[in-house]
Amino acid sequence: MEILNISGLTKTYRGASEPAVRDVGFAMDAGEMVGVIGSSGAGKSTLMRCINRLTEPDGGRVLIEGREITGAGAGAVRELRRRVGMVFQHHNLVARLTVLQNVMHGRLGYMSTAAGVFGRYPEEEKRRAIELLEKTGLGEFLYRRAGELSGGQMQRVGIMRAIMQRPALLLCDEPIASLDPASALVVMELIRDICRERGIACLVNLHQVDVALKFAERIVGMRGGEIIYDGPASELDGETIERIYGKPLSQLMIGGGAVVA
Ligand SMILES: Nc1ncnc2c1ncn2[C@@H]1O[C@H](COP(=O)(O)OP(=O)(O)OP(=O)(O)O)[C@@H](O)[C@H]1O
Ligand SMILES: [Mg+2]
Repeated sequence: MEILNISGLTKTYRGASEPAVRDVGFAMDAGEMVGVIGSSGAGKSTLMRCINRLTEPDGGRVLIEGREITGAGAGAVRELRRRVGMVFQHHNLVARLTVLQNVMHGRLGYMSTAAGVFGRYPEEEKRRAIELLEKTGLGEFLYRRAGELSGGQMQRVGIMRAIMQRPALLLCDEPIASLDPASALVVMELIRDICRERGIACLVNLHQVDVALKFAERIVGMRGGEIIYDGPASELDGETIERIYGKPLSQLMIGGGAVVA
Protein backbone atom coordinates (compact mmCIF):
# COMPACT_ATOMS: atom_id res chain seq x y z
CA MET A 1 0.00 0.00 0.00
CA GLU A 2 1.26 3.48 -0.86
CA ILE A 3 1.80 5.58 2.26
CA LEU A 4 3.52 8.64 0.86
CA ASN A 5 3.37 10.23 -2.56
CA ILE A 6 5.25 13.44 -3.30
CA SER A 7 5.25 15.22 -6.66
CA GLY A 8 6.75 18.48 -7.88
CA LEU A 9 7.57 19.59 -4.34
CA THR A 10 9.32 22.95 -4.26
CA LYS A 11 10.28 25.30 -1.45
CA THR A 12 12.18 28.58 -1.65
CA TYR A 13 12.76 30.34 1.66
CA ARG A 14 12.04 34.05 1.79
CA GLY A 15 15.03 36.03 0.59
CA ALA A 16 16.82 32.98 -0.82
CA SER A 17 17.94 33.07 -4.44
CA GLU A 18 17.73 29.31 -4.96
CA PRO A 19 15.05 26.82 -3.90
CA ALA A 20 15.98 24.65 -0.90
CA VAL A 21 13.86 21.86 -2.42
CA ARG A 22 13.30 21.75 -6.15
CA ASP A 23 10.76 19.64 -8.02
CA VAL A 24 11.12 16.64 -5.71
CA GLY A 25 8.99 13.58 -6.31
CA PHE A 26 8.92 10.01 -5.03
CA ALA A 27 6.59 7.54 -3.37
CA MET A 28 6.91 5.10 -0.47
CA ASP A 29 5.10 1.91 0.38
CA ALA A 30 4.14 0.58 3.79
CA GLY A 31 7.10 -0.92 5.64
CA GLU A 32 9.64 0.63 3.30
CA MET A 33 12.76 2.25 4.73
CA VAL A 34 14.34 5.02 2.68
CA GLY A 35 17.60 6.73 3.64
CA VAL A 36 18.08 10.32 2.48
CA ILE A 37 21.69 11.43 2.05
CA GLY A 38 23.33 14.62 0.83
CA SER A 39 25.68 17.37 1.99
CA SER A 40 24.76 19.97 4.54
CA GLY A 41 22.27 22.34 2.92
CA ALA A 42 21.15 19.81 0.29
CA GLY A 43 17.54 20.20 1.45
CA LYS A 44 17.00 17.00 3.46
CA SER A 45 15.40 18.66 6.48
CA THR A 46 13.35 21.04 4.35
CA LEU A 47 11.97 18.09 2.40
CA MET A 48 11.02 16.34 5.62
CA ARG A 49 9.40 19.42 7.13
CA CYS A 50 7.41 20.07 3.95
CA ILE A 51 5.90 16.58 4.15
CA ASN A 52 3.91 17.36 7.28
CA ARG A 53 3.81 21.09 6.58
CA LEU A 54 5.94 22.21 9.48
CA THR A 55 7.40 24.19 6.59
CA GLU A 56 4.96 25.42 3.96
CA PRO A 57 5.98 24.32 0.44
CA ASP A 58 5.44 26.75 -2.46
CA GLY A 59 4.45 24.13 -4.95
CA GLY A 60 3.78 20.46 -5.50
CA ARG A 61 1.65 17.85 -3.78
CA VAL A 62 2.11 15.58 -0.80
CA LEU A 63 -0.32 12.71 -0.26
CA ILE A 64 -0.35 10.70 2.94
CA GLU A 65 -2.24 7.43 2.59
CA GLY A 66 -3.81 8.89 -0.52
CA ARG A 67 -5.04 12.07 1.16
CA GLU A 68 -3.54 15.40 0.20
CA ILE A 69 -1.96 17.36 3.06
CA THR A 70 -0.74 20.21 0.85
CA GLY A 71 -3.54 22.75 0.59
CA ALA A 72 -5.57 21.03 3.35
CA GLY A 73 -7.23 23.12 6.07
CA ALA A 74 -6.01 23.22 9.67
CA GLY A 75 -8.36 20.47 10.90
CA ALA A 76 -7.40 18.08 8.11
CA VAL A 77 -3.70 18.83 8.63
CA ARG A 78 -4.01 18.03 12.32
CA GLU A 79 -5.69 14.74 11.48
CA LEU A 80 -3.12 13.81 8.83
CA ARG A 81 -0.24 14.68 11.17
CA ARG A 82 -1.41 11.98 13.56
CA ARG A 83 -0.37 9.51 10.90
CA VAL A 84 3.12 10.99 10.68
CA GLY A 85 5.57 10.46 13.54
CA MET A 86 8.69 12.59 13.82
CA VAL A 87 12.05 11.90 15.40
CA PHE A 88 14.69 14.64 15.47
CA GLN A 89 18.39 14.82 16.16
CA HIS A 90 17.57 16.17 19.58
CA HIS A 91 14.94 14.04 21.21
CA ASN A 92 12.71 17.02 22.25
CA LEU A 93 11.60 15.25 25.43
CA VAL A 94 10.23 17.20 28.37
CA ALA A 95 13.12 16.80 30.83
CA ARG A 96 11.08 17.24 34.00
CA LEU A 97 8.44 14.67 33.03
CA THR A 98 8.92 10.94 33.46
CA VAL A 99 9.82 8.63 30.61
CA LEU A 100 6.29 7.20 30.69
CA GLN A 101 4.68 10.66 30.62
CA ASN A 102 6.83 11.63 27.66
CA VAL A 103 5.80 8.54 25.71
CA MET A 104 2.14 9.13 26.59
CA HIS A 105 2.47 12.55 24.99
CA GLY A 106 2.55 10.71 21.67
CA ARG A 107 -1.20 10.25 22.10
CA LEU A 108 -1.90 13.96 22.61
CA GLY A 109 -2.97 14.53 19.01
CA TYR A 110 -5.86 12.11 19.60
CA MET A 111 -7.21 13.62 22.81
CA SER A 112 -9.47 16.51 23.70
CA THR A 113 -7.55 19.54 24.93
CA ALA A 114 -8.91 19.20 28.46
CA ALA A 115 -7.98 15.52 28.77
CA GLY A 116 -4.52 16.36 27.42
CA VAL A 117 -3.96 19.25 29.81
CA PHE A 118 -4.87 17.12 32.81
CA GLY A 119 -2.88 14.15 31.57
CA ARG A 120 -5.95 11.86 31.64
CA TYR A 121 -4.85 9.10 29.35
CA PRO A 122 -6.95 5.98 28.92
CA GLU A 123 -5.64 3.07 31.00
CA GLU A 124 -5.27 0.94 27.90
CA GLU A 125 -2.96 3.51 26.30
CA LYS A 126 -0.85 3.61 29.43
CA ARG A 127 -0.46 -0.16 29.28
CA ARG A 128 0.59 0.12 25.65
CA ALA A 129 3.22 2.73 26.49
CA ILE A 130 4.63 0.55 29.27
CA GLU A 131 4.74 -2.45 26.95
CA LEU A 132 6.57 -0.45 24.27
CA LEU A 133 9.12 0.80 26.78
CA GLU A 134 9.68 -2.63 28.27
CA LYS A 135 10.22 -4.08 24.82
CA THR A 136 12.84 -1.45 24.17
CA GLY A 137 14.76 -2.28 27.32
CA LEU A 138 13.61 0.89 29.04
CA GLY A 139 11.29 -0.83 31.50
CA GLU A 140 13.38 0.14 34.51
CA PHE A 141 13.24 3.84 33.55
CA LEU A 142 9.45 4.26 33.37
CA TYR A 143 9.23 6.66 36.29
CA ARG A 144 12.66 8.25 35.87
CA ARG A 145 12.72 11.89 34.77
CA ALA A 146 13.60 12.04 31.09
CA GLY A 147 16.32 14.61 31.78
CA GLU A 148 18.30 11.99 33.69
CA LEU A 149 18.74 9.58 30.77
CA SER A 150 21.70 9.20 28.42
CA GLY A 151 21.44 10.59 24.89
CA GLY A 152 20.83 7.16 23.37
CA GLN A 153 18.15 6.31 25.94
CA MET A 154 16.42 9.65 25.34
CA GLN A 155 16.42 9.03 21.63
CA ARG A 156 14.81 5.60 22.17
CA VAL A 157 12.12 7.25 24.32
CA GLY A 158 11.56 9.80 21.53
CA ILE A 159 11.08 6.98 19.04
CA MET A 160 8.57 5.24 21.29
CA ARG A 161 6.68 8.50 21.72
CA ALA A 162 6.39 8.70 17.92
CA ILE A 163 5.30 5.03 17.75
CA MET A 164 2.60 5.64 20.40
CA GLN A 165 0.94 7.80 17.79
CA ARG A 166 0.40 4.70 15.61
CA PRO A 167 1.96 6.42 12.59
CA ALA A 168 1.80 5.13 9.03
CA LEU A 169 4.91 7.17 8.25
CA LEU A 170 7.90 7.91 10.45
CA LEU A 171 10.14 10.85 9.57
CA CYS A 172 13.56 10.76 11.23
CA ASP A 173 15.81 13.79 10.78
CA GLU A 174 19.34 12.74 11.69
CA PRO A 175 18.23 10.58 14.60
CA ILE A 176 21.79 9.51 15.45
CA ALA A 177 23.75 12.69 14.76
CA SER A 178 24.58 13.34 18.40
CA LEU A 179 25.15 9.73 19.50
CA ASP A 180 28.29 7.64 19.92
CA PRO A 181 28.67 4.82 17.35
CA ALA A 182 27.40 2.05 19.67
CA SER A 183 24.25 3.94 20.73
CA ALA A 184 23.73 4.98 17.11
CA LEU A 185 23.53 1.34 16.06
CA VAL A 186 21.06 0.51 18.84
CA VAL A 187 18.84 3.43 17.81
CA MET A 188 18.97 2.55 14.10
CA GLU A 189 18.19 -1.09 14.82
CA LEU A 190 15.23 -0.03 16.94
CA ILE A 191 13.88 2.21 14.18
CA ARG A 192 14.33 -0.48 11.54
CA ASP A 193 12.84 -3.33 13.58
CA ILE A 194 9.82 -1.47 14.88
CA CYS A 195 8.96 -0.06 11.44
CA ARG A 196 9.38 -3.45 9.80
CA GLU A 197 7.27 -5.17 12.43
CA ARG A 198 4.43 -2.64 12.16
CA GLY A 199 4.62 -1.92 8.43
CA ILE A 200 5.50 1.73 9.06
CA ALA A 201 7.10 3.55 6.12
CA CYS A 202 10.26 5.25 7.36
CA LEU A 203 12.09 8.17 5.79
CA VAL A 204 15.39 8.85 7.53
CA ASN A 205 17.93 11.62 6.92
CA LEU A 206 21.44 10.43 7.63
CA HIS A 207 24.87 11.98 7.49
CA GLN A 208 26.78 8.71 7.36
CA VAL A 209 26.51 6.93 4.05
CA ASP A 210 27.63 3.63 5.56
CA VAL A 211 24.78 3.74 8.10
CA ALA A 212 22.30 4.56 5.36
CA LEU A 213 23.52 1.62 3.30
CA LYS A 214 23.37 -0.73 6.25
CA PHE A 215 19.82 0.10 7.30
CA ALA A 216 17.91 1.39 4.28
CA GLU A 217 17.08 -0.79 1.30
CA ARG A 218 16.53 2.32 -0.80
CA ILE A 219 18.54 5.53 -0.97
CA VAL A 220 17.49 8.99 -2.06
CA GLY A 221 20.49 11.24 -2.77
CA MET A 222 19.94 15.00 -2.75
CA ARG A 223 22.10 17.80 -4.01
CA GLY A 224 21.13 21.47 -4.31
CA GLY A 225 17.52 20.68 -3.40
CA GLU A 226 17.12 18.06 -6.12
CA ILE A 227 16.99 14.30 -6.07
CA ILE A 228 19.89 13.03 -8.10
CA TYR A 229 19.68 9.38 -7.06
CA ASP A 230 16.69 7.28 -6.09
CA GLY A 231 17.31 3.57 -6.13
CA PRO A 232 18.39 0.45 -4.29
CA ALA A 233 21.16 0.85 -1.72
CA SER A 234 22.89 -2.08 -3.41
CA GLU A 235 23.31 -0.07 -6.62
CA LEU A 236 24.70 3.10 -5.07
CA ASP A 237 28.26 3.15 -6.42
CA GLY A 238 31.24 5.35 -5.57
CA GLU A 239 30.72 7.55 -8.59
CA THR A 240 27.14 8.34 -7.58
CA ILE A 241 28.21 9.08 -4.00
CA GLU A 242 30.78 11.53 -5.38
CA ARG A 243 28.08 13.14 -7.51
CA ILE A 244 25.76 13.50 -4.52
CA TYR A 245 28.41 15.09 -2.30
CA GLY A 246 30.37 16.87 -5.01
CA LYS A 247 33.61 15.55 -3.54
CA PRO A 248 35.90 12.63 -4.29
CA LEU A 249 35.15 9.57 -2.22
CA SER A 250 38.62 9.72 -0.64
CA GLN A 251 37.69 13.03 1.01
CA LEU A 252 34.54 11.53 2.46
CA MET A 253 36.25 8.62 4.19
CA ILE A 254 37.25 8.54 7.83
CA GLY A 255 38.80 5.76 9.92
CA GLY A 256 37.40 2.29 9.28
CA GLY A 257 36.23 3.28 5.81
CA ALA A 258 33.10 5.02 7.09
CA VAL A 259 31.83 7.65 4.71
CA VAL A 260 30.78 10.83 6.44
CA ALA A 261 29.61 14.10 4.97
N1 LIG B 1 14.23 28.34 8.15
C1 LIG B 1 15.03 28.64 7.10
N2 LIG B 1 15.04 29.87 6.58
C2 LIG B 1 15.82 30.18 5.52
N3 LIG B 1 16.61 29.30 4.89
C3 LIG B 1 16.65 28.06 5.36
C4 LIG B 1 15.86 27.65 6.49
N4 LIG B 1 16.10 26.34 6.73
C5 LIG B 1 16.99 25.94 5.80
N5 LIG B 1 17.31 26.95 4.97
C6 LIG B 1 18.23 26.87 3.82
O1 LIG B 1 17.71 25.90 2.91
C7 LIG B 1 18.73 25.09 2.38
C8 LIG B 1 18.47 23.63 2.73
O2 LIG B 1 18.60 23.46 4.13
P1 LIG B 1 18.23 22.12 4.89
O3 LIG B 1 18.29 22.42 6.33
O4 LIG B 1 16.98 21.59 4.34
O5 LIG B 1 19.45 21.18 4.45
P2 LIG B 1 19.91 19.78 5.05
O6 LIG B 1 20.20 18.92 3.90
O7 LIG B 1 18.96 19.30 6.06
O8 LIG B 1 21.31 20.18 5.75
P3 LIG B 1 22.00 19.52 7.05
O9 LIG B 1 22.62 18.25 6.57
O10 LIG B 1 23.04 20.55 7.44
O11 LIG B 1 20.98 19.33 8.10
C9 LIG B 1 20.03 25.65 2.94
O12 LIG B 1 20.58 26.52 2.01
C10 LIG B 1 19.60 26.38 4.19
O13 LIG B 1 20.48 27.43 4.47
MG1 LIG C 1 19.09 18.88 8.08
